[in-house]
Amino acid sequence: MKFIRAIPAISRETKAARSSGHPVVLVPTMGNLHAGHLSLIRRARKLAGAKGTVVVTLFVNRIQFGPTEDFASYPRNLKRDTALCREAGVDILFAPSDAVIYPGAHSTYVVESRLAKRMEGASRPTHFRGVTTVVAKLFNLVQPDAAVFGAKDWQQAAVIRQMTTDLNFPIRIVVAPTVRERDGLALSSRNAYLSPAEREQATVLYDVIRAARLAVKHAPAPLPAGVLRRKLSRLVAKQRLAKLDYIEFFDPKTLEPAKRIDRGTHIALAVFFGKTRLIDNGRL
Ligand code: PAJ
Repeated sequence: MKFIRAIPAISRETKAARSSGHPVVLVPTMGNLHAGHLSLIRRARKLAGAKGTVVVTLFVNRIQFGPTEDFASYPRNLKRDTALCREAGVDILFAPSDAVIYPGAHSTYVVESRLAKRMEGASRPTHFRGVTTVVAKLFNLVQPDAAVFGAKDWQQAAVIRQMTTDLNFPIRIVVAPTVRERDGLALSSRNAYLSPAEREQATVLYDVIRAARLAVKHAPAPLPAGVLRRKLSRLVAKQRLAKLDYIEFFDPKTLEPAKRIDRGTHIALAVFFGKTRLIDNGRL
């Protein structure tokens, strides 16, 4: 595995990889790798083939964090991540410093202006422009044939897909399923912030998705969004340590809000446990 920290080196190595004629597949991450990230790396290997190149990037992207969010405390574990990538058969690990990605006065942003407005975008107003900006930069630096993202961040994948289309990046966007703990909690670096009591109650996110699935399954006709939202909000309210941010229902492709909830409608939710904010989503 090549371990790269500088721009000229990543440009040179990915250019060489592309000229081999085999696919180059990118997996962007913020590190502190868990089984969810590793499943994306396995998917990337399948797409790249044995002779192709899997590039993982590891960069805690300051500009996608709000001023009161957890950028400073976000877990960083370069040594462990490097070992995990090596074990997973990654070909190139790109782990640039902040100064390499944002040298001097960075003043250009990539903004997706429709899908990025609701849900996560409403709660975290500068989040997606940080994501699209850094992902566009990584796309330019690596110029992969495909890039793999997790369904865990459904809206993020949709926003990146839209940016890719709108800006004519010749890159296939692949979305891999959410990896969960045995009790249903979606793996996330932020789960590490939870106290034991909060961790126990954090299963409520997946409980909400399952309850919504059951409600849709047994409803004789499409359910009004408001009715289902109120029912599911009560589930969250029962958990003493949980504070609901939002529950939304939407079309999985267009992210258009759904007024009537049917099979195939998508649900997404965000819940606070103290300062820790967890998100999850699923198809109903
Ligand atoms: P990060 O949170 O590290 O996630 C990196 C990738 O792993 C994302 O595509 C995310 O959706 C996926 N992922 C996270 N948890 C997962 C799980 N439980 N199952 C499956 N996939 C999971 O998302 C980001 O970083 C950043 O916003 C990034 C795209 C790297 C831009 O900075």
